[in-house]
Amino acid sequence: MRAQRDFYEFTDVFEQIFLAAPWPMLMLGEDGAVLGASDEFGPGAEGTARGDSRGDAPLRSRAAHYVAALRGRVPWLTPQEADSVRTLPSGALVYERLHVRRTPWGASLVVVDQTDLRQLQTSDIQTARLAALGFMVAGVCHEVTNPLTSLHSIVQILRAEKQPSRELLDKGFDNIAVNVKRILDISRRLVKFSRVGDEPRFRFAVDEAIEEALYVLRQDDLLCHVELQYRPDATMTVFGNTGQIREIFLNLFVNAAQAMSGRGTLSIQTRSADRMVEVLISDTGPGVPTEAVGRIFEPFFTTKSRTHGTGLGLAISTEIAHEHGGSIELRHTDSRGASFCVALPKERA
Ligand SMILES: Nc1ncnc2c1ncn2[C@@H]1O[C@H](COP(=O)(O)OP(=O)(O)O)[C@@H](O)[C@H]1O
Ligand SMILES: [Mg+2]
Repeated sequence: MRAQRDFYEFTDVFEQIFLAAPWPMLMLGEDGAVLGASDEFGPGAEGTARGDSRGDAPLRSRAAHYVAALRGRVPWLTPQEADSVRTLPSGALVYERLHVRRTPWGASLVVVDQTDLRQLQTSDIQTARLAALGFMVAGVCHEVTNPLTSLHSIVQILRAEKQPSRELLDKGFDNIAVNVKRILDISRRLVKFSRVGDEPRFRFAVDEAIEEALYVLRQDDLLCHVELQYRPDATMTVFGNTGQIREIFLNLFVNAAQAMSGRGTLSIQTRSADRMVEVLISDTGPGVPTEAVGRIFEPFFTTKSRTHGTGLGLAISTEIAHEHGGSIELRHTDSRGASFCVALPKERA
C-alpha cells in the first residue's frame, strides 16, 4: 500500500528528474519495488516502455538484474557503484556502470552504458601490448635462435653417424627435448600475453586469484616442503581481470618456490594502502643475486637454466599490473630472501 501511495505522490517528481537526467534511471521503493523507470516517461513513452532499437528490454524489467549486481539490500544506505554485464537478444554484450543513491522514497539507480568506452579501452590495451611485444621481438629472435641452432647441430651430428650408439641417441634426444621445450615455453607465454580477449574486469577478492595460483602450484608439487604463511582476508577487493591477476601471483609464487628449491617459507600478506591493495610476497630463498637486481624486470633476463626459466615471468607480470593501474616492485632482498610487492587498485583505474 505504502509503495502505491508513494508512487502517486512522487510521480511528478520522478518525471522532472527523469527528464533532467542524461542517463537511464530507475526509482526503487524501500522494499525494492520499481516505482518508476525513465524510459516510461518523455515523448512517445506514455507510461510504458517497449525497449529500444537494439532490442534491449525495458528498463523496469532489467531492475532485478541490476539489483543482483549490487552489494547489500535495497534501499542501500550508502552510495554505491557497481558494474553489470548483460547479453542482448542479438548476443551482443552490454557493459554498464550502476550508480546507487539513497532517496527519501528508497533509492535511485542510474545506469550508464559503457560498452563503447570499454571497446576503446580494450583496443588501447591491445595496442600497448603489441607495442610491448614489439620491443620483445629482437629478444624473441635471439632466444629462439639459440635452441634452434642447437637442434640443427644435434640433427647434423646424428645424421653423420652411420650407426649411432644407444648412448649418443639418448643424449641427442634429451637435448632435442630440452630445446624444443624451451621454444614452446617462450612461444606459449608470448601467445598468451599477446591475446587480449574480451576479458571483463570486475571487483573481486584478491584472495580468489591468490588461492587459484596456489592451487596450480600445489598441482605441480611446488609447495610440498614449503611452509605457507597466509591469512586470507575477504575484505581485500581489487578491480581487474581475475585470470590476468592470477597470472601475476602464479609467476611470483613460482619464482619464490624455485628460489627456495622447494624448501622454506612462503609468506603472503595483504594490506590496504590508500586506493590500492598491496600484496607482499616473501620467500626464504637466497635473495636476488646483487648483479641481477637492476635487470630482473627485463624481458628474457634470467639467471636460471634454460629448462627452468624464460625470463618472461616478471616482464609479463609487470605489464599486466601496469595495464590494471598497478605496479610490481622488489621491496627487499638479502641472503635471507626476497620480497616482492604487488599493488593493485581497489577501484576501476
Ligand atoms: N623470489 C626470487 N628470489 C630470487 N631471485 C628471483 C626471485 N624472483 C625472481 N628472481 C630473479 O629474477 C629473474 C627473472 O625472473 P622471471 O622474469 O620470473 O624469469 P625466470 O623465472 O624465467 O627466470 C630470475 O631469473 C631470478 O634471477
Ligand atoms: Mg619466473
